[in-house]
Amino acid sequence: MKRSFTLKSSKSKCLNGNLNVPADKSISIRALILTSYCVGTSKIFNLLDSDDVQNTLKALKLIGIKIEKKNNYHSVYGNGGLYKSPTQQLDLGNSGTGVRLLAGLLSTSKINVNLVGDSSLSSRPMNRIINPLNKMNIKLGSNNGYLPIRILKDNQIFIPYKHILELGSAQVKSAILLASLNIKGETTILEKIQSRNHTEIMLEYLGARIETNKNLISLKSPNCLSPNKITVPGDFSSAAFIIVAVLITKNSNVKILNVGLNFYRTGLLDILSKMGGTISISNKKTINNELVGDIEVGTSNLKCVNTTGEISPRMIDEFPILFVAASFAKGKSKFNGIGELKIKESNRLKVMHDVLKILGVDIKMGDDFIEIVGKEKYNNVKKIQTFRDHRIAMSVLVFGMASNGEITIDDMSMIKTSFPGFKEIFEKIGAQIKFI
Ligand code: S3P
Repeated sequence: MKRSFTLKSSKSKCLNGNLNVPADKSISIRALILTSYCVGTSKIFNLLDSDDVQNTLKALKLIGIKIEKKNNYHSVYGNGGLYKSPTQQLDLGNSGTGVRLLAGLLSTSKINVNLVGDSSLSSRPMNRIINPLNKMNIKLGSNNGYLPIRILKDNQIFIPYKHILELGSAQVKSAILLASLNIKGETTILEKIQSRNHTEIMLEYLGARIETNKNLISLKSPNCLSPNKITVPGDFSSAAFIIVAVLITKNSNVKILNVGLNFYRTGLLDILSKMGGTISISNKKTINNELVGDIEVGTSNLKCVNTTGEISPRMIDEFPILFVAASFAKGKSKFNGIGELKIKESNRLKVMHDVLKILGVDIKMGDDFIEIVGKEKYNNVKKIQTFRDHRIAMSVLVFGMASNGEITIDDMSMIKTSFPGFKEIFEKIGAQIKFI
């Protein structure tokens, strides 16, 4: 039988049902890394089984951490941060979070290690972590600010520092915090624009000496982290594709259960509500100090919206699918302050602009903005290049579900970096999506 490599989507009549989305990628990666630093064994339930998470897991095994997959959880045998130098380089594949967080942690762990990634990750900037780490007297080798990153075991004295972050990047913040676990004294971070705080939440949950006061974070080290049970909630960033698909499909209503609702991840809900989206949250609870709940969404007549850079970190991964929502909304939307999209898994500003243009959307882009004039109907029979970017691929497929005709993507393989089972979950709620 011929193997299928890619997908096409077409007009879907209605989307209905209750479902779960795969576990949160950001929290899964942090759960593995932080429990590896604990003194003793932690259990992680509902760890995301995706390429990005698997690459972090393999990297931790290579530096001496025992991790066992049991029936419905993973046991991580933390060793208090006493990692060993691996005999081969650590390959984080496509994962920016995996590589930046591990580089931070291992930069002060007194081991020799090289960190590498795939071609997309190798073209993403690493100076954003190297420069702040340098301020703590941490020397990292790199290929002019790109991978590979080389960490050398030497007798450097690391020093704490008062960081001020302009960027609003959780990966940069987390790299600093993880490096600081091994730096005696108090490191502080003042975030000009606040980003997702999963690392701070999990550090506190595992007993680190961390305090946060509005946008100021302080971590006192040394730290001894205690093992605990972590249950990973559903990934809001995966739920986002379903939320938008339902909003723009006639006669639809879907409830997504047990989704992470961290404030710094859910900017999209605020924006979609402003656009007139019918969205409600129920069954809110806190699990390992993270807010979790059910999201119910129904077909809506969306109207245009404007956003500014302030909200961008709260929805940075959701812009591609928000552009799809805006393409079907009434009026002209403008998204400002989105320059960071240029350095994601692909240049999402340009790629989404070019793709939506091909699909017939009235769209304009600038250095850090996109403008879209939406309309109700698109007629498409198109094959789209997704530049090996999972979120581009999924956004394009959702566009296909709401337009007449059909849209084929060139390559579906990257979808599993974050959303394994994307096709099956969409099929289950009634979407027209098929292997070709
Ligand atoms: C992530 C932070 C964000 C986001 C990425 C995951 C994280 O990146 O785009 O997908 O888990 O910390 P930046 O920190 O570069 O904004």
